[in-house]
Amino acid sequence: MAKMEVKTSLLDNMIGVGDMVLLEPLNEETFINNLKKRFDHNEIYTYIGSVVISVNPYRSLPIYSPEKVEDYRNRNFYELSPHIFALSDEAYRSLRDQDKDQCILITGESGAGKTEASKLVMSYVAAVCGKGAEVNQVKEQLLQSNPVLEAFGNAKTVRNDNSSRFGKYMDIEFDFKGDPLGGVISNYLLEKSRVVKQPRGERNFHVFYQLLSGASEELLNKLTLERDFSRYNYLSLDSAKVNGVDDAANFRTVRNAMQIVGFMDHEAESVLEVVAAVLKLGNIEFKPESRVNGLDESKIKDKNELKEICELTGIDQSVLERAFSFRTVEAKQEKVSTTLNVAQAYYARDALAKNLYSRLFSWLVNRINESIKAQTKVRKKVMGVLDIYGFEIFEDNSFEQFIINYCNEKLQQIFIELTLKEEQEEYIREGIEWTHIDYFNNAIICDLIENNTNGILAMLDEECLRPGTVTDETFLEKLNQVCATHQHFESRMSKSSRFLNDTSLPHSCFRIQHYAGKVLYQVEGFVDKNNDLLYRDLSQAMWKASHTLIKSLFPEGNPAKINLKRPPTAGSQFKASVATLMKNLQTKNPNYIRCIKPNDKKAAHIFNEALVCHQIRYLGLLENVRVRRAGYAFRQAYEPCLERYKMLCKQTWPHWKGPARAGVEVLFNELEIPVEEYSFGRSKIFIRNPRTLFKLEDLRKQRLEDLATLIQKIYRGWKCRTHFLLMRKSQIVVAAWYRRYAQQKRYQQIKSSALVIQSYIRGWKARKILRELKHQKRCEEAATTIAAYWHGTQARRELKRLKEEARRKHAVAVIWAYWLGLKVRREYRKFFRANAGKKIYEFTLQRIVQKYFLEMKNKMPSLSPIDKNWPSRPYLFLDSTHKELKRIFHLWRCKKYRDQFTDQQKLIYEEKLEASELFKDKKALYPSSVGQPFQGAYLEINKNPKYKKLKDAIEEKIIIAEVVNKINRANGKSTSRIFLLTNNNLLLADQKSGQIKSEVPLVDVTKVSMSSQNDGFFAIHLKEGSEAASKGDFLFSSDHLIEMATKLYRTTLSQTKQKLSIEISDEFLVQFRQDKVCVKFIQGNQKNGSVPTCKRKNNRLLEVAVP
Ligand SMILES: Nc1ncnc2c1ncn2[C@@H]1O[C@H](COP(=O)(O)OP(=O)(O)OP(=O)(O)O)[C@@H](O)[C@H]1O
Ligand SMILES: [Mg+2]
Repeated sequence: MAKMEVKTSLLDNMIGVGDMVLLEPLNEETFINNLKKRFDHNEIYTYIGSVVISVNPYRSLPIYSPEKVEDYRNRNFYELSPHIFALSDEAYRSLRDQDKDQCILITGESGAGKTEASKLVMSYVAAVCGKGAEVNQVKEQLLQSNPVLEAFGNAKTVRNDNSSRFGKYMDIEFDFKGDPLGGVISNYLLEKSRVVKQPRGERNFHVFYQLLSGASEELLNKLTLERDFSRYNYLSLDSAKVNGVDDAANFRTVRNAMQIVGFMDHEAESVLEVVAAVLKLGNIEFKPESRVNGLDESKIKDKNELKEICELTGIDQSVLERAFSFRTVEAKQEKVSTTLNVAQAYYARDALAKNLYSRLFSWLVNRINESIKAQTKVRKKVMGVLDIYGFEIFEDNSFEQFIINYCNEKLQQIFIELTLKEEQEEYIREGIEWTHIDYFNNAIICDLIENNTNGILAMLDEECLRPGTVTDETFLEKLNQVCATHQHFESRMSKSSRFLNDTSLPHSCFRIQHYAGKVLYQVEGFVDKNNDLLYRDLSQAMWKASHTLIKSLFPEGNPAKINLKRPPTAGSQFKASVATLMKNLQTKNPNYIRCIKPNDKKAAHIFNEALVCHQIRYLGLLENVRVRRAGYAFRQAYEPCLERYKMLCKQTWPHWKGPARAGVEVLFNELEIPVEEYSFGRSKIFIRNPRTLFKLEDLRKQRLEDLATLIQKIYRGWKCRTHFLLMRKSQIVVAAWYRRYAQQKRYQQIKSSALVIQSYIRGWKARKILRELKHQKRCEEAATTIAAYWHGTQARRELKRLKEEARRKHAVAVIWAYWLGLKVRREYRKFFRANAGKKIYEFTLQRIVQKYFLEMKNKMPSLSPIDKNWPSRPYLFLDSTHKELKRIFHLWRCKKYRDQFTDQQKLIYEEKLEASELFKDKKALYPSSVGQPFQGAYLEINKNPKYKKLKDAIEEKIIIAEVVNKINRANGKSTSRIFLLTNNNLLLADQKSGQIKSEVPLVDVTKVSMSSQNDGFFAIHLKEGSEAASKGDFLFSSDHLIEMATKLYRTTLSQTKQKLSIEISDEFLVQFRQDKVCVKFIQGNQKNGSVPTCKRKNNRLLEVAVP
């Protein structure tokens, strides 16, 4: 709804007429009245066809809000009330949709609102074109380049508080979607004379005032600046403050903009340092000093300022000082150095300041370009926005105004070329009926200025290059000669030559009748400014600066690159760049904004009709309306026209076979467009009224929408159908799978039910059969049982009968035997003696015994005493005989065995027997000793020379010589000792040396103690009080314990006739000096394998762990 409300037509609520083409009647008065009426109602924009006239309101109007942007977005040009946004939208869309490069030409005199208009166009385009982080950054950089350039290139003039003092052409580049990619700025000749001098009521460039007002104290100190404007000669004081302008705030805006555009902090600082240096240059003053040769030489009055400049810029002070006092001229390898007088020194100073500043400005433009240039190499569409310094007339007009006005002249020319001349010529070319409309063509003025042979600029160049003394006057003279007859050139001389008298013309001046009015130019300074000379000494001094920016600004100062050729003059440079610009503009689709200044006071609400009238006249706006009215609003070649609108007619859609023109005819007839609305040219169709075009566009839009709907419809149909088909296919697949699944499931169910039923039936059947079988079996069993019982009964009965019968038979036989015996005894009693029975009995017995012995003889076992075999007993009554016989036989074979022994063997067996008696079943070690032969002298002392001494010390027979371990009773550790037993003594000797350690007479040995376990520990107890017992009892361990104990026992017995007591116990006491120590044997230490270990537990306990 909101959109509908604002959808007003150009004709709705129109104040005056929005489009001058509709003005009736058309004359200057109605034209101005219409403008005024609209201006009074805040309608500052009015159309002449597609040209926008903008009247500067000098106050902010609420017509640039984001809502307004939305209103004008994608709307037809004439759909809404006239606005700069409509033009911007038209240009942007034509660029985006029709791929036509655009340029927006903003013209008007100084203060007419060109710069504002250019910013409005840029901001509108930025608002409507693509969005996104990257795009937004590009936009922001493009927009923020404005405040930076305005600070350095704009200044307050009497005509405009923010007057552009440079020309600016900016190409904004877009990609195929219409998204901005970047931009390129070209700048045209900065009015640099302003740096050193400003006309009354004007200011220097904004940046100087902004820096001094806005910089922090810290920054000012760093730049050695003071806040007070009056300290600086280059700053005019009478208009240092501009109403409504906050320089300090603007300084912050500029710094911020520099940051956004991409200036590094150090770059921004460098720029400000250059600005400060320029400002301070103005404060250098010179005084004359007479030299010997009578010439005046300039000297710097106060070197403080110079020193600060040099510190700021890193230039050697002496170099700069010299450059202000001398000038070196180089000509053909000759170097001539001349001193400068005070005037020349000031000239040099100002030239340096101007050059420094203007070069800084160009550097800024290049630096901005570097930041905003498009990053891609794809083809770009371009929208150029031209905002040049406006036409201006001052009290004193100099070279700069001449250049500025020349530029405006050229712009007017391009306007005329494209709107008036070209248009009329095209009608004729295309064979359209046309009545010529007169207009003033300013080509003649352009020619006066730029003609290569006798144009003013060519004259100026010629004069500058001419040898000999050249002054501004000589230049004027030359002009007077060459241009005297030109109708747009006037000077006092030329006038008087034409016998005209105009006292308003001073001497050193010339006047040009520009398209926008007559301008009187002061010829003074023309030559100088055109030459734009900077003494080489100064440029070299600058090049030597350690300040990198300043150094880079003066590349010609590099002595290695000295170029003796004159640089091109300012005028010719400007002419060339304007020519390039014009050529560039002609390749693009132009859009015009013609700015008009309503008053000279920079005041709102004032509409000075005379002033406006003047502008309308020189801008040729009336002629513009006339050409528009007589002509056609729109033209297009037949092919693109047919291509664009062919969808509006059945015959031409989708393809037209014939020539394009015929197609367009058919199309227009079909659409019933009134014939007066269009004409057919040779190659183009001409449409008279924009409304017809808009109608066509609307129809096209509608048709495109219909076509889009159709495409959409078909596409949707296709999409739905394919979707449906897919769904159906899927449904069939799903259904098939489902059915299969359901049937499978059902089948499984039926199958399992059938199985259940089947199993029940089978079970039932089986149970039935089982029952029957069981019954049958029981019957069978019953029958068997009955039969068995029956057979049993019968068998028992039979048995009983048989037993009875057998008993009877037996009884019969016994009775018969008794009876027979009785009968035989009775018969044979008389034939037997009374003792025959005894004899038979003895005989029988004898026979049996005889037989027993004879059989025994054959069954005798072996003669081995250990053979346990013995034949079994044949008769019970021979039992005792049999045992006795066994005993006798055994004794006999033992005797037989013993009889084989020698005496020595007998002794050994005696010993073994003794050992058996002593230890068998008492000591667990014993069984292992049975198999070992008792050797006694294990150590062969006789043979070993080591023991010779020992052998000599012993005279008796050695019974035992063996190494034993003597247990140290103090700690349980053992030491090896030779154990010797002789007939009367027991000796212990050192194993290594053979030295006797102890000698104990056997009479002093009282007892031997040992454990019952499987170990070789034994103690030898000594008689108390004996000499040997002084050290206490001995505790040994030996592998041959059984043998040693036995031999000790036997020797003692044979020598002392006393039985040595042998105590077998797991706990016994051993005398140790005064104390008794208990030796305790415990079972179960596996740590040291099978070796028993001995350990002293405490004072009274020695523990032996036996495995
Ligand atoms: N559309 C506008 N709305 C409000 N004020 C405007 C508008 N256009 C211009 N102005 C006012 O007019 C002043 C001068 O405008 P601007 O600087 O654009 O002139 P110009 O044509 O660029 O002049 P010059 O040729 O000197 O640069 C602006 O500072 C502003 O105050
Ligand atoms: Mg401007």
